[in-house]
Amino acid sequence: MSKSLSQIFLPAAGGTALAAALAITIANRDYGNDKISSLEGRVAQVEANASAATQKARAEAQRAAELQAEFEAVQAAAAATAAMGVDLTAPAPVADGGYGLGRAAHPEEIAAWDVDVLPDGRGLPEGRGDAYWGEEVFAEKCASCHGDFAEGADNWPVLAGGFDTLDDDDPVKTVGSYWPHLSTAWDYIHRSMPFGEAGTLTADETYAIVAYILYSNDLVDDDFELSHENFAEFEMHNKDGFVVDDRAELEYSQWRTEPCMDNCKPETEVTMRSVFLVDTPAEGGTESMMNPATIEGLPSFSASGAAFIPQAAAKPVEVAAAEPAAAPADAGSELVAAGARVYRKCKSCHQIGDGAKNRTGPHLNGLFGREMGSVDGFGYSRVFQSAQEEGRVWDEAELAAFLAQPKAYMNGTKMAFSGLKKAEDLDAVIAYIKSYEN
Ligand code: HEC
Ligand code: HEC
Repeated sequence: MSKSLSQIFLPAAGGTALAAALAITIANRDYGNDKISSLEGRVAQVEANASAATQKARAEAQRAAELQAEFEAVQAAAAATAAMGVDLTAPAPVADGGYGLGRAAHPEEIAAWDVDVLPDGRGLPEGRGDAYWGEEVFAEKCASCHGDFAEGADNWPVLAGGFDTLDDDDPVKTVGSYWPHLSTAWDYIHRSMPFGEAGTLTADETYAIVAYILYSNDLVDDDFELSHENFAEFEMHNKDGFVVDDRAELEYSQWRTEPCMDNCKPETEVTMRSVFLVDTPAEGGTESMMNPATIEGLPSFSASGAAFIPQAAAKPVEVAAAEPAAAPADAGSELVAAGARVYRKCKSCHQIGDGAKNRTGPHLNGLFGREMGSVDGFGYSRVFQSAQEEGRVWDEAELAAFLAQPKAYMNGTKMAFSGLKKAEDLDAVIAYIKSYEN
């Protein structure tokens, strides 16, 4: 078998013949029928790939011939021009003060790009925030994915704990246990979180959140205030954990010497081409490539990417969820107000209220009485598509059952949410959603 497998790496054109030989060899041995037919399937696949590769090679050869012709035409034109005394290879004339293209960047434009923060604190904007306030901001903007205590909801990244696991087989690498520089946390969070709403955090909020993450990691007390002034003094737990790998038998010897710039190696030669056999599955599956060890509960992946990636990258419209003023008439009732607080857990994925759009999840306006899986333009998972085909409709009981245990109730849903455990939270959030009837 191992010899046959090595034939998988074939020159494209010979693929068909060799693949057929492979089929015959296998058929001659007493394999079970199932195995033969599954191998035949793969052989067919190899043949298809090989013929596609051959076609592509032909198209490329034709394109190369066309380019060669174009090149020759240009050369001929240049020769004609040169005969008239014009030198096409002379450098372009130097223009006074530039070439009249574009304009100088404004300082504001440069500032908007120039956001990186270095370990010694260079690049930080002025600002401050303490862990108390950070806890509030974190609860509102981060906890739906990262958990109230940064412990990670479902399989979303854990940001706290994991100390002393770094030399385990399965280390828990968190901001606290693993990251050597605090600047990485500040910069990463400020640039890219909350997931799907990147760039919306103010400098002060970011200081406060980072202070809270340090507090969740037991690295500071709850009254700790982080600011541009004390930032550089803070030393991370794993600050000495990264070393230059200078073992001679590894890559070190390759890059530490001066690179060779001429007469380096005889010409490189392509000695073999491979036919690519692995196809991305067209649809779904739970074969997460992020972390095969913890498939359970991860958002599903499909050919168009991870299910949790928001569909529109546009900056989200600020919705009524956090704005009691924009809430409807009965917003005064305590239950609805409590529901607005619970809804913070949903907010990063679901918009509700005027102008609500589909984001990671569908908008939730007018949910009760609405067919399951029926919002136009939202790509639902299969289980929601079949719920819609069956004509199932949202009412309070269905929603409560779904929200209590999303994955148990809708087996196969791509809603990456662990569920609401408390009955009063369920009641409250239902009342809140109900207040958006339109
Ligand atoms: C909708 C879910 C979601 C929300 C809300 C969210 N994050 Fe994340 N966060 C993610 C995902 C997904 C990743 C992993 C991204 C990647 O690896 O590209 C991540 C990664 C991170 C990481 C890096 C973790 C690591 O060890 O690599 C930090 C730090 C972080 N988030 C902080 C925050 C903070 C702070 C907030 C709130 C301001 C926030 N996140 C809000 C989903 C979310
Ligand atoms: C991490 C993102 C995320 C969070 C947090 C989240 N959802 Fe979802 N939700 C989704 C996705 C994605 C879907 C689509 C599910 C599918 O197609 O399987 C969904 C579907 C739904 C649906 C079905 C809508 C329809 O049109 O049939 C409801 C209702 C819902 N979510 C309510 C909530 C509520 C209430 C919360 C908070 C308690 C919440 N979700 C938290 C992502 C999320």
